[in-house]
Amino acid sequence: MTQTQNNKGEVVVRLTDVYKAFGPKEILRGVSFELRRGKCLGIMGGSGTGKSVTLRHIIGLMQPDAGKIEVEGKDLATISRHNMQEMRKNIGYVFQEGALINWLTVAENLALPLRENTKLSADEIDAKVQEKLELVYIPDAGGKFPSEISGGMKKRVGLARALITDPDLILYDEPNAGLDPEISRSINRLMREVSDRLNVTSLVVEHRIECIQTVADEVVFLLDGHVHVRDNVKSFFQPTDPRLKEFLGV
Ligand SMILES: Nc1ncnc2c1ncn2[C@@H]1O[C@H](COP(=O)(O)OP(=O)(O)OP(=O)(O)O)[C@@H](O)[C@H]1O
Ligand SMILES: [Mg+2]
Repeated sequence: MTQTQNNKGEVVVRLTDVYKAFGPKEILRGVSFELRRGKCLGIMGGSGTGKSVTLRHIIGLMQPDAGKIEVEGKDLATISRHNMQEMRKNIGYVFQEGALINWLTVAENLALPLRENTKLSADEIDAKVQEKLELVYIPDAGGKFPSEISGGMKKRVGLARALITDPDLILYDEPNAGLDPEISRSINRLMREVSDRLNVTSLVVEHRIECIQTVADEVVFLLDGHVHVRDNVKSFFQPTDPRLKEFLGV
């Protein structure tokens, strides 16, 4: 965790009029929003509206056709390769599918980003891995292989791995996908707890209303390539906008 955590209220992520098309398919058609330090922003929208594409832009895996993406005040279009690598270390990404490496143990999966990106000693890495396993309440899972653990536990490991480099910003892509309601609830509580305890800033893409209600402070509704509605989480789920009402089924 860096010194930045004290600067509450400053903008961590800002998208300004972002456009992205794949061939003739215009997916993002002027997306703008900002996310402030310590806050959690939910992103909702129909399948294929560009939620995952938006997250990929923020970690620099995709470049916009037009518009600007700033992370920690830096324009990703002009950032050097070195600074981009530094930036990525500061961003945790929880993948929809878990994306654990099956032939490595849980502990080895967690250690990988530290082995590749830091100069920490083996003992220091072991200590960090154990600290994160404890943070997500699976202290004894380190020696297990991904095939030996449940879906809910895999999600916890995915979260621990995203947190392993102590990022200031964490992006979740459908953290409830494939989980039953009870396990989803425990994951959502854990996400909330992590963001409160570590004071991380987060973006959560999720279809499940309960997840967004548990973890987000504000929510944007993506529609037709734009942010159609942005509101605090309470008002968002008592919508007046007809298209949002239709989407939420209320
Ligand atoms: N690399 C790519 N090349 C071509 N088309 C892509 C690429 N990535 C995404 N798309 C298309 O962009 C659209 C938006 O994709 P995206 O994955 O962001 O949707 P989403 O909002 O996350 O949907 P879901 O809720 O189903 O996950 C889809 O039509 C998808 O097929
Ligand atoms: Mg998606």
